[in-house]
Amino acid sequence: MAQTEVLPATAKPRVGRTGDPCVMVIFGFTGDLTRRKLIPALYNLATQQLLSREFAVIGVGRSPMSDDDVRKKVTEDFKQFATGTVDNDLWEWFVRRMNYVSGDFDDPATYDKLKETLAKVDQEHNSHGNYFFYLATAPNFFGDIVERLAKVALMTEENGHWRRVIVEKPFGHDLDSAKALNQQLLKVASEHQIYRIDHYLGKETVQNILALRFANGIFEPIWNRRYIDHVQISVAETVGVEKRGGYYDGAGALRDMVPNHIMQLITLTAMEPPISFEANAVRDEQAKILHAIQPFSSEDVLSKTVRGQYGEGPMNNQPVPAYRSEDGVPPDSRTETFVAMRLLIDNWRWAGVPFFLRTGKRLPCRNTHVVIQFRRAPFMLFRETQVEDMMPNQLVLHIQPEEGISLRFAAKTPGPAMQLGEVNMDFAYADYFGVVPSTGYERLLHDCMTGDATLFQRADMVEAGWSIVNPVLDVWKALPPRTFPNYPAGAWGPKESDELMERDGRRWRNFEK
Ligand code: BG6
Repeated sequence: MAQTEVLPATAKPRVGRTGDPCVMVIFGFTGDLTRRKLIPALYNLATQQLLSREFAVIGVGRSPMSDDDVRKKVTEDFKQFATGTVDNDLWEWFVRRMNYVSGDFDDPATYDKLKETLAKVDQEHNSHGNYFFYLATAPNFFGDIVERLAKVALMTEENGHWRRVIVEKPFGHDLDSAKALNQQLLKVASEHQIYRIDHYLGKETVQNILALRFANGIFEPIWNRRYIDHVQISVAETVGVEKRGGYYDGAGALRDMVPNHIMQLITLTAMEPPISFEANAVRDEQAKILHAIQPFSSEDVLSKTVRGQYGEGPMNNQPVPAYRSEDGVPPDSRTETFVAMRLLIDNWRWAGVPFFLRTGKRLPCRNTHVVIQFRRAPFMLFRETQVEDMMPNQLVLHIQPEEGISLRFAAKTPGPAMQLGEVNMDFAYADYFGVVPSTGYERLLHDCMTGDATLFQRADMVEAGWSIVNPVLDVWKALPPRTFPNYPAGAWGPKESDELMERDGRRWRNFEK
């Protein structure tokens, strides 16, 4: 009998349309992503009435567990990972929707069992036959799982219902493997069913880049080579590789962060205004930027990219071990934990404007930001101020942990002399909108439930991202690094990163908070 339960009255009014009735199937249900992000995000959607009342979850994992065990486990985990206060009635409503199927991902019997359970859960919750599959597994399972789902007709869309699959990162290991995975998926599913997720696009401040640029009249006229000197994108992390040494050592900072998260920041910063906010209109403009990034020649790789690996050093006054001493990392590892590069975008708007990017582990602070540095005033009128003290205007988009926007400009310092100082105009998200409890996955899950793929990667975009970094991977592989480790934990990467900027007469802006 179909249940049509009413959400507890404590759920907050929604801002947006409620997700379609559906069942979400999570492969890799007992993993970290599920308990840290997915379950708290679903619950947060329920608090905002964005989750359909006709919603259910089926976890798939290898450990044998009953539905009751699963509900207990999820409840225990949630105590640790909830992002806000928990309403017990709402949680009870939510956790009753959890079901579980145990089995190996490469065993056909698992998919027969899943199909049966889906039919039962669908009927119980009246989910209209809409299913989406979240692949929170090791990447080597992605292609096979989707093939097996298709084999038992779970990817078939008919009678008005939809079937979708969310594929986590890493999407491939290089250009060839990404192409192979796209081909494998597209053999059994259509592009509109595949949601390649990049969790950076779930961040409010990343989405706000679009709002800043295209909802305001004052920025776009100066958002081009005539007024902008260069752009800096930094994604700094304090963490080391934690328990992910095994994965990370085979990947490295370049693969882990650049073709995906950092390319998102670049495309949103650099794209032309789309003709609408329809998924393909936005993604077409992003793809054009990826295609316009000047390919690296071997010489460029040597002069315009920097790699680093952290040695031991102090973080918050505590010594931390070198990368090569981390669990799962070989003592002679040549994997980079830091990367910096200088890119050019060959199009009318950006010709000649360098985009500098850097990312690394064990840097002095956790801070992601985009700095737009404007050209200096054309004529230096203020003789009392040294030219080098006159900092050019910078618009900084703070992505995390602080979320906001600040504009740096020169102002007269008080007193009889005409001397200048540097001041900042700051907007902090939290001051205006308060802090909304969020994991960063809410928007993306909700988009999948409503069929909006704007913030997901199309096959061509993923491949274009890999095409940019592939020449770098090739040269780095052919010329193993000889100076690793080349920066101590707690520093802003190797000195070559600063030199990359200095050669251009520019300087990284470091935020130390
Ligand atoms: C992941 C990377 O995709 O993003 C991690 O694999 C990295 O290495 C993480 O730490 C950063 O995400 P966030 O949201 O903490 O900036």
